[in-house]
Amino acid sequence: MAITIKNTRARYGLAAISLHWLMALIIIGMYPLGLYIDSLGYYDAAYKTVPHWHKSVGIMLMILLVIRLLWRTISVQPKVLVHSAVQKRVVKIAHSSLYFLMAVALLSGYMISTADGRAIAVFNWFEIPALPAVIDEQEDVAGLVHYWVTTSLIILAGAHALAALKHHFINKDKTLSRMLVSTSRT
Ligand code: HEM
Ligand code: HEM
Repeated sequence: MAITIKNTRARYGLAAISLHWLMALIIIGMYPLGLYIDSLGYYDAAYKTVPHWHKSVGIMLMILLVIRLLWRTISVQPKVLVHSAVQKRVVKIAHSSLYFLMAVALLSGYMISTADGRAIAVFNWFEIPALPAVIDEQEDVAGLVHYWVTTSLIILAGAHALAALKHHFINKDKTLSRMLVSTSRT
């Protein structure tokens, strides 16, 4: 079956597939980059560059997430491939949680970075202004939320990837191949 830009009831389309894999790769890369930032001292040379990259890429992820959610609301969703009502519910909750954790990870990152009122220079290309701080000790509170939410996101994404591999290799159904460009098993 030829692949289209839009989703069909049988499979994800090129737009959803590109957004899914691009964001997944970037998010997986952002996690160790964040831990590396945390290990840096103020006088390390990398302190001047790595946080800048982490924040700039993070803002790009925010833009991609907004596009992805808008695209999702105007697209048909492929039919869920599990059968029981309980499994359908679990898949729905897992996917909503992944979206929720992505949104909170990005917002808390923005709140850490702008707590002192400074705008975020995205690749020195354009600036995202700071909003007034909304909570006391915003940098520390948002930092704690950022750590736990990004850690939960990586753990849930790991379980999600294992579930996709189980469907592919054990159940031998189309769950993974319809999120890929290859048309095998579709
Ligand atoms: C899903 C995307 C992201 C992931 C997976 C991620 C991951 C992380 C991790 C694991 C840390 C280390 C936290 C710690 O050890 O306490 C961190 C730190 C940080 N992140 Fe992110 N991050 C993401 C998005 C963002 C965004 C969008 C921004 C800002 C626009 C941002 C700004 C920061 C800053 C400023 C720090 C340093 C905080 C500190 O040292 O206290 N992050 N990130
Ligand atoms: C940080 C990493 C990841 C995130 C945040 C993520 C997030 C998501 C989300 C939110 C969906 C639901 C899409 C929708 O219908 O709107 C989804 C679907 C999917 N993801 Fe991921 N994903 C990640 C990594 C992976 C990996 C590594 C794999 C495979 C090894 C994978 C396989 C799939 C598959 C097969 C689907 C379609 C599921 C279905 O049709 O029910 N994902 N992913």
